[in-house]
Amino acid sequence: MSNDAIVLLKEDHKEIRKLFTDFENAGEDASKTKAKIVHRIIELLTVHTYIENEVMYPRVRALLPDLEDDILESYEEHHVADVLVMELYGMEPDAERFDAKATVLIENVRHHIEEEEDEWFPKVRAGLGRKALQEIGEELLVAKKTAPREPSQPSALKKTIDAVIS
Ligand SMILES: [Fe+2]
Ligand SMILES: [Fe+2]
Repeated sequence: MSNDAIVLLKEDHKEIRKLFTDFENAGEDASKTKAKIVHRIIELLTVHTYIENEVMYPRVRALLPDLEDDILESYEEHHVADVLVMELYGMEPDAERFDAKATVLIENVRHHIEEEEDEWFPKVRAGLGRKALQEIGEELLVAKKTAPREPSQPSALKKTIDAVIS
């Protein structure tokens, strides 16, 4: 099996996109089914975002400084997704805004995945050799083992909470 970093990340994307479609096809009244799907989406996104933030993005940024702007934008897109994930995580599935929030998360992450796959991953493949991508892939697999599976407080939310209670 290939441990190529881009191949591994695209496998995650595929699994996440499948869950997005499952959510959309679940129907209006399938609140229990949708809650389960959203729970799984949150788990996969938490792991995936973590390994990109901790391994993929910093490695690529160091090796290919020309991609800095793409990577900074991607960090911001992760941040938006983190906030939505955190809010969904704390929400009852029958809440009025649950479906709407899940839909906005899906729209955002779909766009983000497209940018990774179509815009800057190809530049990473062109700029790094097979060996480097293989090494990063191995690091991704290691990080995956200890990655958080559910959201802890993202720093921005933590700051908001601290500001409110202090
Ligand atoms: Fe990403
Ligand atoms: Fe990704």
